[in-house]
Amino acid sequence: MKKTLMFLVCFLFLCGCKQTTADKLMKLGYSEEDINLIEKLSEENQNLFLEDYKETELSYLYQPDFREENLEEYLNYHGLLDQERVVRLVNEGILNKDSFIKLFELYNHPYFIEKNEEKYLRYLNEYDSLRDMIEIVNTQRDRELFTGIESVDLSKGDLMLVNKYYQLSEDYVPDDLVNVEEGYGRGRLKKNAYEAFVQMADDAYKFGYDLRVVSSFRSYSYQEGLYNSYLKYDTLENVDSYSARAGHSEHQTGLAIDVSVPGVSLDDFYKTEAAKWVDENCYKYGFIVRYQDNKKDITGYIDEPWHIRYLNKEIAADVYKRGITYDEYYACFIE
Ligand code: DAL
Ligand code: ZN
Repeated sequence: MKKTLMFLVCFLFLCGCKQTTADKLMKLGYSEEDINLIEKLSEENQNLFLEDYKETELSYLYQPDFREENLEEYLNYHGLLDQERVVRLVNEGILNKDSFIKLFELYNHPYFIEKNEEKYLRYLNEYDSLRDMIEIVNTQRDRELFTGIESVDLSKGDLMLVNKYYQLSEDYVPDDLVNVEEGYGRGRLKKNAYEAFVQMADDAYKFGYDLRVVSSFRSYSYQEGLYNSYLKYDTLENVDSYSARAGHSEHQTGLAIDVSVPGVSLDDFYKTEAAKWVDENCYKYGFIVRYQDNKKDITGYIDEPWHIRYLNKEIAADVYKRGITYDEYYACFIE
């Protein structure tokens, strides 16, 4: 009887000691689902979870691409980059201590576009400047000009993008063209653009600058003739740097204006005080100077201080403030 009692006491004592891992985990607050995942790990990693309730570590086990051998490495970047990204990039061998700073900058860059991620990663070490690389990818300048041409998205209205990759159809003509009145220059413009120009010209006049529309809406066929006429005495490469191919000119939108002052050719406009005024003030009326000297590599055009493009006041001010091309602005914020 005494023996049986002793045996019973020992049995109960041993049972109490022999708590399973699952029991211990449960006591620490892990759910059944958590425990199922933890029990798939090596003993060493299981012990990690037995130390305490490891909320951060646990969250990685729920990532579909979780790999146990990378757990420690994931934790190095926890909270610094999106978790799904950390798992994917560590698994692919892209994210490590050498690449982290560059990747951190990339993913936190104001002009980072999600759909371009694969390209950014491909070019990550090909450019000295991360900013240059992002700009090139965003504006598709990693591609040969005039390749992969797409139709202009007309649904964007006055914010449509026309460049060497986006083309207007042969028959596209804006539906609300109005005549430029005497005293403001010549030609036709889209109503919004014209009204904005009139306001700008009237204000500029108060400062002594007599702004005039020198070139405005140009049809597809007119642009074709113009471009071909340049080709008669200049190389293709040169012509492409200052004249748009048919369908690729912003002038066909009725939203672009070549502006100057009486007696001054477009080529000499940059020498005038009026050009400086236009450069610094046109955004207030909804325009941007579309082709800037420091952005030739992106736009594919030489500096054109006379070519202004109507967007609207809010967007023009934002483009101006950021100092980026409309090509990139469109990719980041409009598309
Ligand atoms: N000169 C500008 C680029 C045009 O032809 O539209
Ligand atoms: Zn122009």
